[in-house]
This record gives sequence, C-alpha cells and structure tokens, in this order.
Amino acid sequence: MHPTSSTATLHAHRIHKSFISGVVRVEVLQDLSLNVFPAELTLIVGPSGCGKSTLLSIISALQHADRGEVTALNQPIHALSRRERERFRLHHTGFIFQGFNLFPALTALEQVELPLVYLKLNRSDIRRRACAALEEVGLEQRMHQRPAELSGGEKQRVAIARAIAKEPELLFADEPTSSLDGMNGQQIIDLLHRIAHVHRNTVLCVSHDPRLIRHADRVLAMEDGRIQRDWRRDTGTDVPELEAPYEQY
Ligand SMILES: Nc1ncnc2c1ncn2[C@@H]1O[C@H](COP(=O)(O)OP(=O)(O)O)[C@@H](O)[C@H]1O
Ligand SMILES: [Mg+2]
Repeated sequence: MHPTSSTATLHAHRIHKSFISGVVRVEVLQDLSLNVFPAELTLIVGPSGCGKSTLLSIISALQHADRGEVTALNQPIHALSRRERERFRLHHTGFIFQGFNLFPALTALEQVELPLVYLKLNRSDIRRRACAALEEVGLEQRMHQRPAELSGGEKQRVAIARAIAKEPELLFADEPTSSLDGMNGQQIIDLLHRIAHVHRNTVLCVSHDPRLIRHADRVLAMEDGRIQRDWRRDTGTDVPELEAPYEQY
C-alpha cells in the first residue's frame, strides 16, 4: 500500500525561508511542501547551497521557517516555543552530522550515554541502552576507545549509536557520509537503511552525494528552493535512471 499524507510522521506545508546576505535577501526555501513516512529511508539530494541543511533544521524543530507549517508526530512544530522545541528534539529526534560531533575526551560508551543522562533514565538503563546501541552498529569491541583511536567510519557509527540510543521516532542525517571514503560511506547508509526498517523509524537524510541514491527507499530531488522530483523504490523495482541526473553533484 502506498503511504498517504495521513500516515506521514513529518509534514511540511508551504515552507518559506530566506536569509539576508549583505543587502540581498536570498530565498532559500520557496513554497516547499513534503511528507516523510516511517519505516523507510528518505533521501533528499541536491547541489551544495540549495537549502538541504536549512530544510532539515526546520523540519527537525531546530529553527523556524518564515512562513508555512511543520507537523512532526502530529505536533505543530511551527507553533512551539523554543523550550517546547528543545523538549521535542530531546525526546523524539536523533541527529547525525557530517563532522560526527563527538567529544574528544569521552570514550564511545560515554558519548552514547551522555544524551541518556538528559533523559533522566536510571544508571543501569543508561548503560544497557548504550551498550545495545553500540552493539547494533557493530562497535561492541570498541566502546572504550576515544575518537582519536577510531576511524572515520567508526566515529560515524558512534554518532549513530548516540542518536538511536534515545530510541527516537525521527532520525535526521545531514551529509552523514561526506567525510568518509566510498566503502565507509556505504556502510553508514546501509546502517541507516537497516535502522529505518528494523525499528520502523522515520529516517530522513540529506546529501549532495549521488552514490547514496541506490540505498534509499525514496529519493527527493531539491532544486530552486523546493522539491522537484519524488521517486519511490517499490520492492523489487530497480530505478537505474535515478543516478544519471545527479552526476554533477
Ligand atoms: N544562517 C544563515 N545565514 C545566512 N545565510 C544562510 C544561513 N544558513 C544558510 N544560508 C544560506 O542559505 C543557502 C542554503 O544553505 P544550506 O541550507 O546550508 O544548503 P545545503 O545544505 O544544501 O548546502 C546558502 O546560500 C547559504 O549560504
Ligand atoms: Mg548542508
């Protein structure tokens, strides 16, 4: 069955966002609408500077749009105060960044435990969840290592473990493979795909890397401030022509 807008966990409706650059106003998002669904990996691709990170920050409740509505897990994000948005993010979202955003002084286990402390879980639950998350990303043997002792791919897997340990319904990734070589990048996107399917999370990834296209369940192409194309890969249906238009990114 095809998802309908009523099953969407993320819904953006007629979003506008502009920034002032010197004396010019740059329209980054222009009347952008989209729905994102659970249990699949949705990838938004588009050239650098087209507004992918801006869109992700608006749809993940980090910043407000100038106009338009964002609904996440049936909550009107555009109407929440800063404090309510922070609370929403803490309880419902996980974030994975290009630069990993790990603390140099902490071990992998401590990095993953940190956000769980803010969730006010008890000590044994924190340890259990953190270990399970590190195991899920294949790092159970590396959990006492600090970032300097880990490869780029391992660092990103720590960041993924940190995001999923909170057990969020929504997982956002901004260029998660851009600092990695091809093989490590592929492992990361495979992991995000598996998480979407196993945990039935909504996984929304933005990237300029066309190599990720073949791993996504759905690919949205962004250009000129809005979504221009929307492909869905139904089970068993290959979509080889997807790769051609994005060679330039
Ligand atoms: N806080 C900001 N202030 C001013 N301009 C911004 C800000 N954030 C993004 N921009 C501009 O908005 C455009 C889109 O940026 P971004 O969303 O980061 O694109 P992408 O992630 O696709 O590379 C760029 O031209 C960028 O310079
Ligand atoms: Mg970006």
